[in-house]
Amino acid sequence: MIFKSSTKTVPDAPQVPCHVAIIMDGNGRWATRRMLPRVAGHVKGVDAVRDIVEACVDRGIAYLTLFAFSSENWRRPEEEVSLLMRLFVTALEREVAKMHANDICLKVVGDLSRFDVKLRDMIANAERRTANNKRLTLSICANYGGRWDIMQATRKMLEAHPGVTDFTEEQLAEHLAMAYAPEPDLFIRTGGEQRISNFLLWQLAYSELYFTETFWPDFSPAALDEAIVSYQSRERRFGRTGDQLAQKK
Ligand code: IPE
Ligand code: IPE
Ligand code: MG
Repeated sequence: MIFKSSTKTVPDAPQVPCHVAIIMDGNGRWATRRMLPRVAGHVKGVDAVRDIVEACVDRGIAYLTLFAFSSENWRRPEEEVSLLMRLFVTALEREVAKMHANDICLKVVGDLSRFDVKLRDMIANAERRTANNKRLTLSICANYGGRWDIMQATRKMLEAHPGVTDFTEEQLAEHLAMAYAPEPDLFIRTGGEQRISNFLLWQLAYSELYFTETFWPDFSPAALDEAIVSYQSRERRFGRTGDQLAQKK
């Protein structure tokens, strides 16, 4: 493993979060408040994604992970699901060249087998094209679920070690869909709900959690800065006492 596990070692607590993970929630309510159809909120949400990606690059954040579609979002009306898929396709068509020019590495994380072939091909091409970019790794979680992730990692781990019955955390973690990234330092959920909704269950073990009422389409770079300031005021103890931390300084 390249990255430090928060449970097996005491990781660094960087001043500027190295990895920010966001549940982009509240698109539908943003639209409903304006007497608009829910889809208008999703369309506006894409603009917010663009602004926040740019803001993360400017702030030197190395990894940004965005929850775009959960494994439970298929339960939504078919119309909304198909619109979200179309939006995803257009966003890829429009943004990948720009991302590449800005040295952004794009990853799409989740059970992609449920997407149609055209979308899967687009994803594979975009990932291939941006694979060597270094400035920011942008992960879009699509048909992602934390439980799915732990299950698929377990399956892969068992395949990699046939007959072995005793495993370490590291042996499992290396098969998680986001093994290429450190655990998130800062988790943000917009839209007022205070829950994880099956996002990164394993990796959020020691992330700092930040909840805001702001709906995702209104989440601006200034709002991101507020979340970072809150993060910077936290004492990340990773199980130790405050006195132990003070002595280290
Ligand atoms: C988040 O906004 C976007 C997705 C889940 C795709 P919502 O669509 O959940 O918006 P609300 O929570 O209904 O307002
Ligand atoms: C979580 O939002 C998933 C995404 C933002 C993609 P939801 O709106 O689906 O979550 P719940 O249903 O309110 O928990
Ligand atoms: Mg929601």
